[in-house]
Amino acid sequence: MSRKPLIAGNWKMNGVLIDACNLAAGIAAACRGVSDRDVLLAPPFTVLSEVAHTIGDAPIILAGQNVCWEGKGAFTGEISPVMLRDAGATATLVGHSERRQIFGETDELINRRLKGALDFGLLAILCIGETLYQREKSQTFAVLEEQIRKGLADIAADRMGRVAIAYEPVWAIGTGKTASNDQAQEAHAFIRTLLADLFEKDIAAQTRILYGGSVKPTTIDELMAQPDIDGALVGGAALDVDTFGRIIHFT
Ligand code: G3H
Repeated sequence: MSRKPLIAGNWKMNGVLIDACNLAAGIAAACRGVSDRDVLLAPPFTVLSEVAHTIGDAPIILAGQNVCWEGKGAFTGEISPVMLRDAGATATLVGHSERRQIFGETDELINRRLKGALDFGLLAILCIGETLYQREKSQTFAVLEEQIRKGLADIAADRMGRVAIAYEPVWAIGTGKTASNDQAQEAHAFIRTLLADLFEKDIAAQTRILYGGSVKPTTIDELMAQPDIDGALVGGAALDVDTFGRIIHFT
């Protein structure tokens, strides 16, 4: 089963409007003519509309970095799926480790966000990953299993076509320390097997599983050569046009 690669750039809390537009314009140019892989950008909410305007018809999927489950209402500080769509996004991240670790988001909350994203027609990238402590205690697979089971609880199989998983070992995020190809492949294969258990083989075979954690132009080719790695969720290296451009054009 061939899965179209997906290279996603998460800008996190970086960039005011002028930076965002310059970066978006450069990435849009780098994506010209690219059709054998999907490119996704998750800018800060405040610049989404302008980034959408800047990229125009470039083949780029725009995403939120998080989303509420309700369309509107008394949820101070949240952004609804309707607002994301209104700003030009068709996708969202949920469960990023910074949301889990810094803001205390639980698997249950993340599951609500994921369901909300799907209810309103968005593509959702569910982020999971173990901490260094958990890896050193040999808890990696148990942690991934719990995050997947709870994160995907009550998601109907026919909605999985709009879900991607991002495996991001927390110890590799922003540290310059990429997981080895073997470590990443082992985790991705485990996740795919789990998806086959939870849903069915075909769904597991179709679901894109991205790797995230200090991805660079020098590591992307070998990561993408792994059988169960279908793309990358890139943080720091997505903030520079040339660097992200080289990642998009992995071979
Ligand atoms: O969302 C992206 C990930 O957290 C990876 O960030 O590439 O800066 O390590 P990083």
